[in-house]
This record gives sequence, C-alpha cells and structure tokens, in this order.
Amino acid sequence: MNAVAIYPGSFDPVTNGHLDLIDRGVRLFGHLIVAVARNIEKTTLFTTNERIELVRETVSRKNDVTVESFEGLLVDYARTRGARVVLRGLRALSDFEYEYEMAMMNRRLFPDIETLFMMTSESNFFVSSRRVKEVMRFGGDVSSLVPALVQKRLAEKLGRPTGS
Ligand code: PNS
Repeated sequence: MNAVAIYPGSFDPVTNGHLDLIDRGVRLFGHLIVAVARNIEKTTLFTTNERIELVRETVSRKNDVTVESFEGLLVDYARTRGARVVLRGLRALSDFEYEYEMAMMNRRLFPDIETLFMMTSESNFFVSSRRVKEVMRFGGDVSSLVPALVQKRLAEKLGRPTGS
C-alpha cells in the first residue's frame, strides 16, 4: 500500500506481539514508522530512549522500520510525518473499547487519518507489556513472550534472574 503508516504505542517494553505486528505492517506498507510515546499518563518502567533502543535492536527488517519518539497528540505528530494510516493491534475483545475510543477521537481531531487494526497472531493473543512485567516481577519465565534482549533488560531493571 502506498501510504505512510505509523505504529504508535508505549512499548514498555516491546513484546513479541508488537514485533509480529511490525513485521506484518512492513509487509503491507513496505515501510513503517514505529512511534514511541513520550508523554503517556502511565509511568513507564523503561525510559523513552530505552524503549526506542529495544525496538530498534529487536525489529527484524531494520532498513524498513524507522523508530522515533513523539510528544503531544498522535494526530499532530502524524501530520508532521505526512502519515495517513495509524496501525494498531487488536487482541482480545477487551482491547476493543479502548481502541475504538482512541480511533474515534483521532478521527475527530484529524479526519484524514485512518486507523487500521490488525488482529494479533494467535500465539500472541494474551501478550502485553503489562503482563510481561508482572510475570517477570514474580520470577516467571517470559522467554516465549519477548526477545532475549528485552528479557535481559527486564531482569536488570527488576533485579531478577532472567527466569529461563
Ligand atoms: O501502547 P499504548 O499505551 O496502548 O499506546 C497508546 C498511545 C501512546 C498510542 C496513545 O496513548 C496516544 O496516542 N497518546 C498520545 C496522546 C493522544 O494523541 N491522545 C489522543 C488520542 S486518544
């Protein structure tokens, strides 16, 4: 598809679910801008620079992916990048309301932007950064949920053995 597409999120930290979506987004659009949110309401475990670095280090098609941060409204940032598509992943039904609300708000703010949802792959259906952090915090094995580098950084942050 011949459009600039942005995949925004907190990526705190990036998971296999995100990486799967990035791969598939690249296949659709040829290139993808991964936009790491700076000023999100939730407090993050990783700094913005750490979150960016982990995405950069773990994406497979590095030449086709730009990773940067953004501040303020997503639609304003999208405008500066000339993007027409915002890509988001949908997992369980529980994601729907949050995603729907966000897509509607973004459309109200900037009608030219289309939010495109892709279903996560079955194997990543339940994978979220929040759950990964929780499992890691209590010593569980997250090796099938995040890349090895992310697992290592999580272990360092949380003062835990890697779990595997
Ligand atoms: O990974 P997340 O936390 O679900 O990503 C949410 C994110 C960062 C995409 C969203 O919070 C966002 O776009 N924040 C920027 C502020 C904004 O534009 N808000 C209006 C849309 S509701």
